[in-house]
Amino acid sequence: MPRHFRDIDDLSPADLDTVLDTAADLKASLDRGDPGAPLPDRTLAMLFEKPSTRTRVSFETGMTQLGGHAVFLGPEDVGLDGREPIADLSRSISRYTDVIMARLFDHAQLEEFCKYATVPVINGLTDDAHPCQTLADLLAIREHLGRDAEVAWIGDGNNVARSFAVGCGMIGLDLTICMPEEYAIDEEVLDRARDFTGTIETTSDPREAAAGAEAVYTDVWVSMGEESDREEKLTTFREGDFQVNASLLDSDTRVLHCLPAHRGEEITAEVLESDRALVWEQAENRLHAQKGLLTFLLDAV
Ligand code: CP
Ligand code: NVA
Repeated sequence: MPRHFRDIDDLSPADLDTVLDTAADLKASLDRGDPGAPLPDRTLAMLFEKPSTRTRVSFETGMTQLGGHAVFLGPEDVGLDGREPIADLSRSISRYTDVIMARLFDHAQLEEFCKYATVPVINGLTDDAHPCQTLADLLAIREHLGRDAEVAWIGDGNNVARSFAVGCGMIGLDLTICMPEEYAIDEEVLDRARDFTGTIETTSDPREAAAGAEAVYTDVWVSMGEESDREEKLTTFREGDFQVNASLLDSDTRVLHCLPAHRGEEITAEVLESDRALVWEQAENRLHAQKGLLTFLLDAV
């Protein structure tokens, strides 16, 4: 079976280190103007069932920089709504390309896709996980906060939070998670995160979570596909004071967000636009981290 990247812990902690080290090397080479091209003539298929800016542009640009090529397939093209079984789609695309990235709603569909794929499949976000984002986040944390940082997640227990929690566990960070009970990460994910060396604490008090954190991470309260729950979710998060704003943070606390951000909901414009925000570093690192992942999965490191 090819090596798939369905979630961050499809990598071992040692593999995760390798991917992050490779990403850092590729980033430095690009900065020196000497990017190299370790994946000549390789093709990445990119399947999108949901919208994307960063994921699409960083994967496509990344493949170009690596000497390869990317093919974009949007919701109109891939026909996941019943044009053909996902098993047929997966087997067909595998015959043309060297690696596939898929952004789907249902994580079970991604698993099904992986079952039939004969080339590596990368999860470009599902309702359950966003491991490519985690790679970029861990790279940004390494660069700006060091390897034993204390971080907090304040907000929804969504796809980004789940993969991030497991990734923090894998590289040994101290993470405090603060979510409303009804939107908390499930125990199965916390158990996976706690299988590794990092420590994971939970609290329902955003002030307690933020106190002592070197960086606070948040994401939208209403993810793609949850639009019908919007009013209910906003009420819960607002009533629980989960917004990341200046009054919640110490003067030197950094702020993380995967973007897109909803200013005035989970984060204030003041915080997002301030020097504390590492969000543009995270966004840039999507490019470098995914190049590290692609070269790793295609045995070019
Ligand atoms: N953070 C992220 O995955 O952004 P896009 O949805 O724009 O790809
Ligand atoms: N949690 C968000 C992340 C977007 C990158 C969503 O799934 O919509």
